[in-house]
Amino acid sequence: MKKISAKITSIGHFVPQKVLSNFDLEKMVETSNEWILSRTGVRERRIIENGSTSDLAVPAVLECLKLRNISADEIDVIIVATVTPDMLFPPTATIIQEKIGAKNSWGFDLEAACSGFIFALTTGASLIESGRYKKVLVVGADKMSSIVDYTDRNTCILFGDAASCVLLEPTENNDEGILDSILRTDGSGKEFLHMKAGGSLNPATTETVNQKMHYLFQDGKSVFKVAVKGMADISYEMMQKYNLTSDDISWLVPHQANLRIIDACAERINLPKEKVMINIDKYGNTTAATIPLCLYEWWKDKKLLNGQKIILTSFGAGYTWGSVLVKWTMENFK
Ligand code: COA
Repeated sequence: MKKISAKITSIGHFVPQKVLSNFDLEKMVETSNEWILSRTGVRERRIIENGSTSDLAVPAVLECLKLRNISADEIDVIIVATVTPDMLFPPTATIIQEKIGAKNSWGFDLEAACSGFIFALTTGASLIESGRYKKVLVVGADKMSSIVDYTDRNTCILFGDAASCVLLEPTENNDEGILDSILRTDGSGKEFLHMKAGGSLNPATTETVNQKMHYLFQDGKSVFKVAVKGMADISYEMMQKYNLTSDDISWLVPHQANLRIIDACAERINLPKEKVMINIDKYGNTTAATIPLCLYEWWKDKKLLNGQKIILTSFGAGYTWGSVLVKWTMENFK
């Protein structure tokens, strides 16, 4: 029997209209446009005013289906990577399923923080490779504004809201699509990046709310160092595994957490900056949405082309991190 591989056959995105600029933040906390720009690379981010994570995801999914010219009831599985589900349960995947009318599908949420998209992509690819499923939607969506403390200058400058998704389908050409993934976790990182309350460890009480335990907490300096090493090492490991040099890689698609992290990662693997997808200036860190949002924009601008080999890489809370090697062939789909 022929080995089945998974390939990306469609893509969609959604960013809310409202812009929160560095100048807006200057009026909210003690910070400056210069500080934010030089330390993070973010100029502005988008914020959804009315709506939840599923409201971000649905327009992205509908765009993806339209592009592929299929209806929602053709979808087999919906995987939603998010740290900001509409509710702790039911899964946001089921809420999206109902909103788009994907009546023949099942699905689930996958929580791997900023690595959520590449973990979900790998999971979705495995479902396709198993031969059991033909159309798997992989969504990265986060309403980070719902867990960010807008009085904390250490974190509120970093994050934004967005959603993006890809459709995975089978191919018998094993030299295209999702070629390989290397994924890792290290739970010793939990103290540096987390949300303290709202889970079973610290259920919501008046006290947890008063102590602001339902907001994202980050020790930025500690995360910074491991993020650079984590993304660079695992991207390099992928290159070594397939004997690839920087000439063989058309694009590095890094999680957009901090421009300095992205630059340092690219430098460590000897990849010129022209080969790195960067849109953190426009959207900030949108957690599970950053990587597919980059893919969408570069594809739309005809810079991401068929036949190009790309490496997706991310690092996030947990810690979670990884790299995925993809050969992009989307437009060839028949
Ligand atoms: N405006 C002005 N000053 C600020 C500020 C802001 N928005 N935020 C922090 N500062 C101050 C700090 O209070 C500190 O002041 P102090 O020296 O008087 O204490 C100073 O700037 C330096 O803070 P520091 O934390 O050392 O800055 P940094 O260069 O490490 O940048 C981050 C902070 C958060 C931007 C950076 O550490 C980072 O991006 N970390 C990793 C994020 C990440 O990758 N997350 C994982 C995936 S989600």
